[in-house]
Amino acid sequence: MKLVVANESHFKYAQIICDTIAESAKVRGTGIAKRTPEYIQKKLSNGNAIIALDGDKFAGFCYIEVWGHEKFVANSGLIVHPDYRGHGLAKAIKGRIFELSREKFPNAKIFGITTGLAVMKINYDLGYQPVTFSELTDDPEFWKGCQTCKNFDILTRTERKMCLCTGMLYDPERKEKDKKKKEINSKSFKRLKSIKEALFFKKENK
Ligand SMILES: CC(C)(COP(=O)(O)OP(=O)(O)OC[C@H]1O[C@@H](n2cnc3c(N)ncnc32)[C@H](O)[C@@H]1OP(=O)(O)O)[C@@H](O)C(=O)NCCC(=O)NCCS
Repeated sequence: MKLVVANESHFKYAQIICDTIAESAKVRGTGIAKRTPEYIQKKLSNGNAIIALDGDKFAGFCYIEVWGHEKFVANSGLIVHPDYRGHGLAKAIKGRIFELSREKFPNAKIFGITTGLAVMKINYDLGYQPVTFSELTDDPEFWKGCQTCKNFDILTRTERKMCLCTGMLYDPERKEKDKKKKEINSKSFKRLKSIKEALFFKKENK
């Protein structure tokens, strides 16, 4: 199995990607934003997508979309072909697309909306946190993508505040702050530990 950054040579997979996304949504009975082969081809050609291939056979796909003048990027359209599910491929693809997002857009917040438990688990492991829609991009173009979802009426009724999907966000700034906080806590802990040890040994040696 190889995971590569997609390009024009992968255009022939656009149809099977669309079909697999649509078929899977039907089976799950959930809503999904519909994608056309032309739309997928755009994603394949702009260096912002990862495709997984088993020899020549399509196995999985995911792409990056940029919103709000690069303030946000979304990792969207994750799909693993039914023949390759349950072996950690989605996790590997999401890991690669996350790395690519961090490399190309280091200051952007990375987000996704999903109804899928598997995706929530993977995102959580990558450091995403669940958030309300108010924390996500307000770029109308992103939300337009939901128009083809069967639950779009809910999103409209709630004035885009909530829907059946859960929003998840990776905020690099917050991660940096958390890292510093952890470093400070571990320094304080080490200092406290050495004071206690010193006091304890003093008592023992008396
Ligand atoms: C969801 C999907 C991408 C998972 O692909 P996969 O390669 O089978 O997933 P992985 O093997 O990498 O599993 C990743 C994690 O999700 C869990 N998982 C996988 N499928 C699951 C499911 N249907 N329900 C709950 N958890 C699931 C795995 O146990 C694993 O968790 P762990 O790390 O705690 O062990 C795949 O089933 C798919 O393409 N489904 C249809 C499209 C879809 O739902 N896309 C997401 C739209 S937002």
